[in-house]
Amino acid sequence: MSILIKNGRIVTAVDDYFADVLIEGEKVTQIGVNLKATADTVIDATGKLVIPGGIDPHTHMDMPFGGTTSADDFESGTLAAAFGGTTTIVDFAIQTKGRSTLEGLDIWHEKARDKASIDYAFHMIVTDMPKERLPEMETLARAGVTSYKLFMAYPGVLYVDDGVLYRTFRQAGLNGTRINMHAENGIVIDEIIKEAIEDGKVEPRWHALTRPTRMEAEGVHRAIAIAEVANVPLYIVHLSSHDALEQVKIGRSRGVDVQAETCPQYLFLDQSIYDRPDFEGAKWVMTPALREKWNQNSLWQGLKFGDLSAIATDHCPFCFGGQKEMGRESFTKIPNGAPGVENRMSLMYDGGVVKGRISLNRFVELTSTSAAKTFGLFPKKGTVAVGSDADIVVFDPEKKQTISIHNPETHHMKVDYSAYEGHEIQGWSETVISRGKVVVHKGVASATGKGQFVARARVGELLR
Ligand code: URP
Ligand code: ZN
Ligand code: ZN
Repeated sequence: MSILIKNGRIVTAVDDYFADVLIEGEKVTQIGVNLKATADTVIDATGKLVIPGGIDPHTHMDMPFGGTTSADDFESGTLAAAFGGTTTIVDFAIQTKGRSTLEGLDIWHEKARDKASIDYAFHMIVTDMPKERLPEMETLARAGVTSYKLFMAYPGVLYVDDGVLYRTFRQAGLNGTRINMHAENGIVIDEIIKEAIEDGKVEPRWHALTRPTRMEAEGVHRAIAIAEVANVPLYIVHLSSHDALEQVKIGRSRGVDVQAETCPQYLFLDQSIYDRPDFEGAKWVMTPALREKWNQNSLWQGLKFGDLSAIATDHCPFCFGGQKEMGRESFTKIPNGAPGVENRMSLMYDGGVVKGRISLNRFVELTSTSAAKTFGLFPKKGTVAVGSDADIVVFDPEKKQTISIHNPETHHMKVDYSAYEGHEIQGWSETVISRGKVVVHKGVASATGKGQFVARARVGELLR
């Protein structure tokens, strides 16, 4: 199978030029002006951008959480991702407390096998790490799982104490792997929640009001300090606030290897949405919570000037009917998470490039290249180059859409609401190619279910 993409404007994290792209099999084999090659399929990309497929480094497909399971599995979630221009996700396998991390990895391989329509990789969520288990971490790295996520939040569920953090950080650093941190002081937050419940404050808005940004900042500060001492590269996930970002900047200015991602929800939505009547605010109960609107400006600045290095979705959808409703009596019972894997590229193009906040190159870097480099996928993924996987999006920079559960072009996620209902966006993933196969073209899916697990490289190593 070969595909020739003609007359497009190729944009990577650094380049911006007009040329044709030849794909043979799974790889890009030629790039040049007026390529003379013939191909099975020719795509005319006149007026379109030819960009690397998006990489979403933070999703939760088929995740048991909050007494239920996230509504998208690897089949529906990865296809929705493809509709939105994402061609690789890095999801999270979970260690059951007291059991082997390798067993957790097997379970997630089983969940994803033969279901995904785009390529996928795994981080490993660590829920305990006694000394005897540390050698498993090298086995994981050899199996291509070269990053971990640990939680300072969710006491009694995913929370681990600072001792586990230090032990895991130290070993991860020795193995040449990376730590992802959910940074929020869950212990203090739990006390604040108890006070709120005692006062009868049970509506969704109290989810945000019981999670002060200072407790996120404290978590970021502590994670950076521990990573600095343990000598491991750190990546703060779903950073949501000005206060937390300040701590990242302080750590970076001290020379600590710390990066952070933010998510569209923290850039486009704010905490006033929790006040919607009839329990509707539950749709946006996620952790960290949505913040006061003024934080958004700081996050955009962080994206522009490099203190925030990637855009992930933290896609963790729960249906309003039947799942979010579990928390009608108390916000503490609302499963935490929201959908978004399908909307990331268009939201960021519109809010970033069209609105003049970031350049086109930075858009590509934030939605693809940076995650590829951080998480050991580059240069196989994350760029348009000869020898790289043919994960390519032909992106229409002019097409406008209104995101809505009622607009089938914008909603393929298996969840009964859109977090961005009514948002008007400009910029659309028209053709989405995953390892040389057209998965989506003009809103129609084909060649589904061909996604593969990607074993990632260690920090600083290239993946071929
Ligand atoms: O609310 C969220 N973010 N749910 C998913 C789990 C996590 O903390 O990332
Ligand atoms: Zn988290
Ligand atoms: Zn998450």
